Amino acid sequence: MKVLGVVGSMRKEGNTGKLVQAVLEGAKDAAAGLRTQLLHLASLEIGPCQGCYEVCSKTPYKCVVKDDFQSALARMEDADGIVIGSPLYFPIPSRLVALCERLVCLAYFHGQRGHKGAHLLEDKPCAFVVATGGGEAGNVFRYLFEFAMATRMNPVTVKHYPYYGVVGRGELEKDEDRPLEAARELGRLLADALEE
Ligand SMILES: Cc1cc2nc3c(=O)[nH]c(=O)nc-3n(C[C@H](O)[C@H](O)[C@H](O)COP(=O)(O)O)c2cc1C
Repeated sequence: MKVLGVVGSMRKEGNTGKLVQAVLEGAKDAAAGLRTQLLHLASLEIGPCQGCYEVCSKTPYKCVVKDDFQSALARMEDADGIVIGSPLYFPIPSRLVALCERLVCLAYFHGQRGHKGAHLLEDKPCAFVVATGGGEAGNVFRYLFEFAMATRMNPVTVKHYPYYGVVGRGELEKDEDRPLEAARELGRLLADALEE
């Protein structure tokens, strides 16, 4: 079993990466033999959807734009579960927007044209973490949840606020809500979802 952590922050050593890493650690603790991988969007070139509809409208899950999107998508497809971490920007980093909009466009045409096969990421358990400078993360989570709905993934939720996933505000070690601990617990829930 393999879980991929997608770090949407432009800072590789930032809080988003720490939260994603904590989810992966929790998942590894909960499931023997589970492997984890990290994908830093900061290291990739992923441009915006061109709205050309040339290839994606005819061939399921193929995009005409050639950049790192294809390899990112291949790694997401290959994983059994996915963790996505985003910082609160306005509302999220543009590179993560680019990944989401490109993928949502492919999913849209897959659904529209009545292609018989499943969506590429269909039923994959996923989990979300958000890092903020102190602000609320609701808009980021709702964006990510809509992304999960459009791509037919299965988000794992938590019993405590903000329910959609785990938020870390400011310095993670000083945040009294203990986001790193909560992120490890989210990882355990994700591992459980993988086994179901
Ligand atoms: C463009 C931009 C916009 C941001 N907007 C907000 C905001 O509205 N509210 C907030 O609490 N933090 C905001 N932040 C701070 C980041 O959410 C915070 O520093 C977060 O930890 C960044 O993630 P990172 O540590 O992975 O880089 C913003 C940061 C950037 C770069």
